[in-house]
Amino acid sequence: MGEMIMSDRIIEMKDLSYAYTAAEGETPRLVLKGIDLEIEEGTFVAVLGHNGSGKSTLAKHMNAVFLPSGGIVYVAGMDTADENLLIEIRRTVGMVFQNPDNQIVANVVEEDVAFAPENLGCPPEEIRRRVDDALKVVGMYDFREHAPHLLSGGQKQRVAIAGVLAMQPKCVVFDEPTAMLDPRGREEVTAIIRRMRDELGTTVVLITHHMEETIDADRLVVMADGRVAMDGTPREIFSQVDRLRELGLDVPQTVDLIYRLNKKGFSMPLDALSPDECAEAVAGALRT
Ligand SMILES: Nc1ncnc2c1ncn2[C@@H]1O[C@H](COP(=O)(O)OP(=O)(O)O)[C@@H](O)[C@H]1O
Ligand SMILES: [Mg+2]
Repeated sequence: MGEMIMSDRIIEMKDLSYAYTAAEGETPRLVLKGIDLEIEEGTFVAVLGHNGSGKSTLAKHMNAVFLPSGGIVYVAGMDTADENLLIEIRRTVGMVFQNPDNQIVANVVEEDVAFAPENLGCPPEEIRRRVDDALKVVGMYDFREHAPHLLSGGQKQRVAIAGVLAMQPKCVVFDEPTAMLDPRGREEVTAIIRRMRDELGTTVVLITHHMEETIDADRLVVMADGRVAMDGTPREIFSQVDRLRELGLDVPQTVDLIYRLNKKGFSMPLDALSPDECAEAVAGALRT
């Protein structure tokens, strides 16, 4: 145990399996069934899958909230089963959950964001700098002296994200961060996720039900019944409309439109993901 491996993989799972503790007399049921997954540092990986497919359970293995029942998980080369590495693992991978109300602990925005760097024992001027930087990244600097409970859902979630960023993690795992937000809040959070990858170089793992949030991802991983069912670029995955539907998943509206037009006799490629690409494809098909 505690073996270190060197690589540019921030997360590495080898034959990971997991069963929740069963009640007396019941047999434990595997909810993760032999997952091999490697996530390269600095990439944006989206995870899709129907309810109960194991996404949240998988996410909780990415910062040692859960330890494998079988197999092994490395975070930046650190074996998550080595408890001596726990603090360093938690500092490397931050998590953002659905409900911002459960993640905000203080009564003033900047105090909430200061919580993690204070716990890490940062000196006061370092804390000040980290808090200001994090609030600027999420566009909440002007609200630093506000009370979190008076903010909108989207604003609260941005404060919760700032709280994680203040820890300066290499990787942030988002578990359905927009599920409780209105479309505007969703757009705000999605924009921050893009900035984190593009400007901060943070590795992002995003679990979501909203297909539109995933079209900018470097890679999509589709979970089904505790296994990785599909793994590829958004173009590769979303063009397999029938397979996705079998797995109980939607496709972006852009892909759906082209799929339906193709059923009516068009033959356009199914990888026009953004509205602009979709408009271009449709306009091109109408011209010919
Ligand atoms: N605390 C728990 N105890 C027992 N079973 C659980 C627990 N949490 C989740 N499960 C089961 O594990 C499976 C995977 O759940 P989860 O990882 O939450 O899936 P997802 O996030 O994809 O919806 C589901 O069948 C779910 O019912
Ligand atoms: Mg879940």
